[in-house]
Amino acid sequence: MNLKKNLVFLGMMGSGKSSIGYLVSKKLNIKFVDIDDLIEIEAGMTISKIFEEIGETHFRNLEEKITLRALKNTGNTVSLGGGGFINEKIRKEILINHFSFWLDWDDAILLKRIKGSKKRPLAFKSTDHEIKNLIKKRSKIYSKAQFKINCNKLSKTEIVKKIIKIYELN
Ligand code: S3P
Repeated sequence: MNLKKNLVFLGMMGSGKSSIGYLVSKKLNIKFVDIDDLIEIEAGMTISKIFEEIGETHFRNLEEKITLRALKNTGNTVSLGGGGFINEKIRKEILINHFSFWLDWDDAILLKRIKGSKKRPLAFKSTDHEIKNLIKKRSKIYSKAQFKINCNKLSKTEIVKKIIKIYELN
């Protein structure tokens, strides 16, 4: 695909950014880029280890650097980490130069998926109340995305179809 933009997927932990990003890339026959994977490769350790051993600030710096660099290559699907779009520099770059899709779900569904997840240090150490507050706070920012996909009643296949339709119309 000769496209000067990326299709960027954003939303909370557990919203399916990676699986949907991957499926959309297969359908469009383009490359799939997962920012969390890139961070783990570059740091040489898992995200949980980065949080544990070097701290969240270091993780956020890495996330900014690696995301902005990845976005320079275009014509790909890119799945952000849940905090990626909260970063102002990353958000601006995406809103100016790329397509952005917010995968939106009800709190209860997200909570069930991420609660106690050892792979997700932020969710692991938080109470239900704290996670709900984080969803509320972040949703205000996620809502700036170009397209909001209300995923609650849709299957994965339907979500992918919807995204491809939007992409083809734009
Ligand atoms: C984070 C989400 C995670 C990962 C890190 C921080 C967040 O990615 O980047 O644990 O701040 O929401 P996923 O959304 O892919 O789980």
